[in-house]
Amino acid sequence: MSEKKRRYFIRTFGCQMNESDSERISGMLDQTGAVKAERPEDADLIIVNTCAVREKSEEKLFSYLGRLAQLKKKRTLRIAVVGCVAQLRGWELLGKKGAVDFVLGPDNTAELLSLVKEDAAEKHVSTSWSEEWHETSPGLIQRDSPVSAYVTVMEGCDNFCAYCIVPYTRGREKFRPLRSILEEVRDLARKGYLEVQLLGQNVNSYRDPASGRPFTELLREVAAVEGIEWIRFLTSHPKNFRPEIAEAVAGLRKVCRQLHLPLQSGSNAVLKRMKRGYTKEEYLDIISGLRSLMPEISLSTDIIVGFPGETEPDFEESVEVLRQVRFSSIFSFRYSPRPLTAASRLEDSVPKEVKQRRLAEIQHLQKTIQLEDHSRLVGKTMKVLCLGRGQKTPQLFTGRNEGNQVVNFRSPDDPTGRLVDVHITAFGPYSLLGEKTA
Ligand code: SAH
Ligand code: SF4
Ligand code: F3S
Repeated sequence: MSEKKRRYFIRTFGCQMNESDSERISGMLDQTGAVKAERPEDADLIIVNTCAVREKSEEKLFSYLGRLAQLKKKRTLRIAVVGCVAQLRGWELLGKKGAVDFVLGPDNTAELLSLVKEDAAEKHVSTSWSEEWHETSPGLIQRDSPVSAYVTVMEGCDNFCAYCIVPYTRGREKFRPLRSILEEVRDLARKGYLEVQLLGQNVNSYRDPASGRPFTELLREVAAVEGIEWIRFLTSHPKNFRPEIAEAVAGLRKVCRQLHLPLQSGSNAVLKRMKRGYTKEEYLDIISGLRSLMPEISLSTDIIVGFPGETEPDFEESVEVLRQVRFSSIFSFRYSPRPLTAASRLEDSVPKEVKQRRLAEIQHLQKTIQLEDHSRLVGKTMKVLCLGRGQKTPQLFTGRNEGNQVVNFRSPDDPTGRLVDVHITAFGPYSLLGEKTA
């Protein structure tokens, strides 16, 4: 075993869940005395945390592995693939460009620790499931932000939406003990974090394994932690969204009046084939319930275009819902068939060009909506949690308002990590611009 300090580089693809897992992996590696490298060229261990949600996500990984294979020709380098593609492809990945040494599924990431400590030279693949919750001591997570923190509250998903691979890559739903969630949140508060984002594929179905207490109780307990000012959670599922959750958001000052509620499609026929478990009308009822309690609530959603059999009128119904609800942001995707899923057995009937045109159309509509809605915010003053300097514009600070909109602003002092008042002076489709007033 070498005494030289190991240097690792970690590259993360995919969702917040993966970002959060990468922060945990970094913390774990730091514990072994390894040091984080800023570039893959400076590392002797590279961890690639992967996403399998669309075909493109996998393609990105494979081209990245191609680049790493080139690096590996020049010197000793271990490459670990973790996360969703690791789980899905397992041993297959060892054949990919000959670059990969270790393949660890989401429940097996902790094995990285012994592989690193032993300086393992053999190839290693581990993709077994465990029913237990893997605890990470809060102190050992190396977080990217000193202001806003991800806190995982559940893993996996039991919904099996027809298009979605996540239940196969992340396994069955399992909940983290409430006690351990609160321990982490209290630790964050002590470290000065103002915002926590509670993460899970389907957070509304949360239940504390010991007591059975539901998600609303979790929100209440987290809101009671002194020092934490803003609480967000994602993702919610319309099928599990009970009125009590809306009441909790309305009633708890610290829970941001903001909700991500994936619609996927505005057509009942498509929703049914997607096995989403709600209708357009039920979805719209949830939205009007939320808005009657909180007129100012900011809503975001996910939309898939070109699901098998989606007709032009089906697509128009999705467009109509976007016009009606006026989301503050959307994530939109072309349907991509994924292995193992129910929809992969249906014919991928919508031609690529049609998917592309539909995607462009909703993105154009959404841009118009955001421009209109942002224009009404000029002249207003709003609370913004400052996350730091802008990456592209370091002369500006950047943060998010309660509605989770990006606000870039000028400030005479550095307000990173504080909630400040920002007066909005200008806007673009995807962000607001302003001046700090207090
Ligand atoms: N658990 C979350 C996130 C799932 S993945 C949820 O239920 O919303 C994030 C988004 O990717 C989904 O909401 C969906 O819009 C999109 N997505 C998932 N599978 C897809 C596929 N096969 N093709 C295109 N988009 C997909
Ligand atoms: Fe996928 Fe549906 Fe589960 Fe979300 S709820 S992760 S879309 S199966
Ligand atoms: Fe991708 Fe896995 Fe997240 S498939 S979207 S990284 S849960």
